[in-house]
Amino acid sequence: MAAAGPAPSRPVACVFDAYGTLFDIATPAELCREALGNAAAALTALWRRKQLEYTWLRSLMGHHADFSTVTADALDAALAALSIEPGALRQRLLDSYLALDVYPEVPLALERLRVSRLPLLILSNGTPSMLEAVCARAGIAASFEAMLSVEAVGVFKPHPSVYRLATDRLGCAPADIAFVSSNGWDVAGAASFGFRTIWVNRAANPVERLPGTPDAEIADLSHLPGLLSCGENA
Ligand code: LAC
Repeated sequence: MAAAGPAPSRPVACVFDAYGTLFDIATPAELCREALGNAAAALTALWRRKQLEYTWLRSLMGHHADFSTVTADALDAALAALSIEPGALRQRLLDSYLALDVYPEVPLALERLRVSRLPLLILSNGTPSMLEAVCARAGIAASFEAMLSVEAVGVFKPHPSVYRLATDRLGCAPADIAFVSSNGWDVAGAASFGFRTIWVNRAANPVERLPGTPDAEIADLSHLPGLLSCGENA
């Protein structure tokens, strides 16, 4: 998606990251706010940081464990680091990871894309059962023609074999896919693989200094249907 030259053709499909892009990972700590008090935001941030670090480290170490195990391990590490007694809280937090809030603009954006007959898929670190549960709970499962999980390749994003799951499934070239993620490092991995990338920069973060830069940047998914409609840069 160069800035100059003819407008890019409509993508073959739109592939979404899940956590942080469609689903708000702050939900569990918010639901437990009466127990966590002021530590809720710190727990959300550290839990996520540990979760991602463990995915990258396990991939480098060649010791894969599925995302539900990594998520539980990361929670344990974050609770210990913040000196929060796990007690009954631990299981409540993990259970609510299967019932994350969908960001408010997501259902309508998905519906508009679906009506325009653009196939929609998820490509996520999440296990198939985690993805099915969180999508069903949010009422958006029917929007997707497939939920692709890294469990099929046993390594986490941003390994290229993860992004290849989408091209293999769709039988198309990487540049035919519009990939949407709020995670800047995931966008870098996907762009490096050759996808057209749209960064949902919800937190107004600076761009990652990594190979693979986003082709487009939007503040939330309400801008996506316009961006992907015919003749518009995407
Ligand atoms: C995912 C993480 C990276 O859904 O958010 O794959």
